[in-house]
Amino acid sequence: MQKFIITGGSRLSGELTLQGSKNSALPIMAAAFLTGGVCTLDNCPRITDVYSASRILSGLGCKCTFSGGEFRVDASGAGGSEISAALMKEMRSSIMFMGAMIGRMGRCSVSVPGGCELGPRPIDMHLSALRKMGAVITDEGGRITCKAPGGKLTGAKINLPFPSVGATENIILSAATAEGETYINNAAREPEICDLCGFLRRCGADIRGDGESTVVIKGVKRLNGCDYTIMPDRIAGATYLSMTASAGGEMILKNACTEAMEPFLSVLEQTGCRIITGNDRIYLRCGARLKGIHDRIRTMPHPGFPTDAQAVLMAALVTAEGTSVFEENIFDCRYRHTDALRKMGADIEVLGKVAVVRGVKSLSGAVVTATDLRGGAAMAVAGLKAAGETVITDISHIDRGYENFEGAVECLGGKIKRV
Ligand code: EPU
Repeated sequence: MQKFIITGGSRLSGELTLQGSKNSALPIMAAAFLTGGVCTLDNCPRITDVYSASRILSGLGCKCTFSGGEFRVDASGAGGSEISAALMKEMRSSIMFMGAMIGRMGRCSVSVPGGCELGPRPIDMHLSALRKMGAVITDEGGRITCKAPGGKLTGAKINLPFPSVGATENIILSAATAEGETYINNAAREPEICDLCGFLRRCGADIRGDGESTVVIKGVKRLNGCDYTIMPDRIAGATYLSMTASAGGEMILKNACTEAMEPFLSVLEQTGCRIITGNDRIYLRCGARLKGIHDRIRTMPHPGFPTDAQAVLMAALVTAEGTSVFEENIFDCRYRHTDALRKMGADIEVLGKVAVVRGVKSLSGAVVTATDLRGGAAMAVAGLKAAGETVITDISHIDRGYENFEGAVECLGGKIKRV
């Protein structure tokens, strides 16, 4: 198993071009199957979750090739409707293929998806929406089979009890070629949902309201393939900015989605960093010790503070002056990185969904284990600030979502080795 060895304690400085978004690329890859055409996805990140999605597409009969940052999928001859339990376990987004398969094939067979362990991650909202659209669903020992009577789902009015990102995406995929109109009320508004809809519209779908709470999808008879550029990854962006803010120094993030990152940037700015945004660039400079954040940082659905950026910002705030308080409202178990940060000297107290971070003057390197994707990245943020060497094991978690993580850190002048 590979590890990262980080030598911390130096300031960072450099320019970095942001990778394409994981959480956009994965549903768009599922959507490519739905189109039944040839799709070229530019700015597709080279990360292991994308490789897992590529294996699912190949298993369904698609021809997939990756060249540079361009992922090409030819779904024209594909006709699969089953995904093995082993592939389903590789990542949470495997569930997105459910909507794509039922939309294209009128049936599908999947099992409960895997993904980062952040507490219970049920799929009840996905299933009840599909049922509302007419799907007949059976669950035998964790194997879930969905069938659309007559091969087609029917549009419906769906009220989500919570704006789930995955459920919103799955409904959009299922509805794009269903009979009639589907309304999603209390839809998730994440920028990656707009990216999926942008892709589907280019393929001929009729979708309105994405980015707002009500999304309306009018089913079309058929979709076509297209060329599309995946949006930049706002969470990878938040990670590298947190790193530089914490270690001190300056950086320019290029190819950044500045608007999508605003909920994060507006909080980061309160630490005293200088941040200038313009076009697709973010400049950050941090000369002095960070200041703790006065208001409670509450993770919320977009446009609230993103849960995916909670761990990396916390890692930066552990050495800030004063106390910062986090409230995690999306996942039940998303503080698993705090043990590792404590081992490095952080003062963090977790009380249910609240984490109280009392800033300490310094951290020291330690041997820590990545617990999940963002938690692992948070350990690297802390490692670059800490005195001495930090060893992060189980870095396969980090590779799931960060393209060439060590290359990006080195671009900023950070000392990191993969061994
Ligand atoms: N939920 C249910 N029932 C459902 C669906 C969700 O109870 O049927 C609950 C979940 O258990 C969770 C909450 O609703 O407590 C939010 O889940 P959501 O469905 O919004 O999340 P997701 O689709 O599983 C995506 C991202 C996550 C990100 C969340 C929230 C992808 C591939 N994953 O997950 O990204 O944290 O939205 O923004 O898009 C990451 O990148 O590190 C990551 C975990």
